[in-house]
Amino acid sequence: MTEPLLSLEHLTKTFPVTSAGLFRRRTDRVHAVDDVSLEVMPGETLGLVGETGCGKSTLARCITRLHDVDDGRIVFAGEDITHHSRVRMRGVRRDVQMVFQDPYGSLNPRRRVGSIIGDPFVIHDVGTPAERKRSVQELMERVGLNPEHYNRFPAEFSGGQRQRIGVARALALRPRLMICDEPVSALDVSIQAQVLNLLLDLQDEFGLTYVFISHDLSVVRHVSDRIAVMYLGKVVEVAPSAELFTQPRHPYTRALLSALPVADPDVSDSRRRIVLAGDLPTPTNPPAGCRFHTRCPRAREDCASTVPPVEPVLGDRPEHRTACLHPLGDGEDLAADRPAVGDSEITATEEELSA
Ligand SMILES: Nc1ncnc2c1ncn2[C@@H]1O[C@H](COP(=O)(O)OP(=O)(O)O)[C@@H](O)[C@H]1O
Ligand code: SF4
Ligand SMILES: [Mg+2]
Repeated sequence: MTEPLLSLEHLTKTFPVTSAGLFRRRTDRVHAVDDVSLEVMPGETLGLVGETGCGKSTLARCITRLHDVDDGRIVFAGEDITHHSRVRMRGVRRDVQMVFQDPYGSLNPRRRVGSIIGDPFVIHDVGTPAERKRSVQELMERVGLNPEHYNRFPAEFSGGQRQRIGVARALALRPRLMICDEPVSALDVSIQAQVLNLLLDLQDEFGLTYVFISHDLSVVRHVSDRIAVMYLGKVVEVAPSAELFTQPRHPYTRALLSALPVADPDVSDSRRRIVLAGDLPTPTNPPAGCRFHTRCPRAREDCASTVPPVEPVLGDRPEHRTACLHPLGDGEDLAADRPAVGDSEITATEEELSA
């Protein structure tokens, strides 16, 4: 059996937050990522989706060890890297690269793009200056940039081109795993597809493995073999992409699906838009039991006290796992449980999704 390229086992990450009360200061903790277990197989794309603030970027930063984790294990290519020192991480960093959301903020405006893309060669002491320049120009060409623009500054490029610069830099050392954190979210819709197609082409050509993060399910589905849905720091459902769309088990997944454009050919016309009651709770004091119980149209008494395990439900295959005590049966819809509030317009979810 093929070994996963990346395994996350019970990963947990909190941040301290200090709030000043009237008489005393108290320190709470933000539960950004809570007991997340996921595997990523070589050559696949695992999509990670969920509302803004659910912990996607924190998870990405834990994987690349930009954050230390509180608990759990990170295993990359069979090696436990959870507590690797900076020095030991250097070798791993060649293999694990990140592409960030903000093509404006992540590039130093005072440096020429050639030297930005060539950074990894310098950091890892690869090649002579002449070889580096040639490699950088090859990379520029490969990602659809004009190699003659080697000496230009980031401001001279469009948003889409800047994201190509970020992709070229990430690709420089031929990593095995690329973690793309909202790589197209800052781009115009018309440009998004071009960058997504570039990422897909590069995956084929270089045998890359992706963790692809977005708050936008329609973007994630476009590229992912499997999709993990997060809510308030937890994975609530993970499944092969097609199955997640045709047979969502978790009420939150179902609500996310209902916010997709109706023109989607794979989703039946009969589905209704689900209005989630209430606001996203704060991760500083997440609800007990199932974290979704304060907004779940299916919530029953046990949901407030029992944390549902992430496991196959209702006879699903092992690769389809759901954290729900009362999952949706085959073909069953949420709306049948409790009529959706108001008419078929979505309110909260849509705002949160576009936040
Ligand atoms: N460095 C940090 N210090 C304190 N809180 C943080 C930090 N980074 C993220 N958080 C909090 O952790 C939660 C998850 O954030 P994040 O991982 O950025 O979510 P997402 O990428 O899904 O939008 C949020 O409540 C956020 O405010
Ligand atoms: S466990 Fe209960 S509250 Fe949580 S998603 Fe399932 S039905 Fe809803
Ligand atoms: Mg983020």
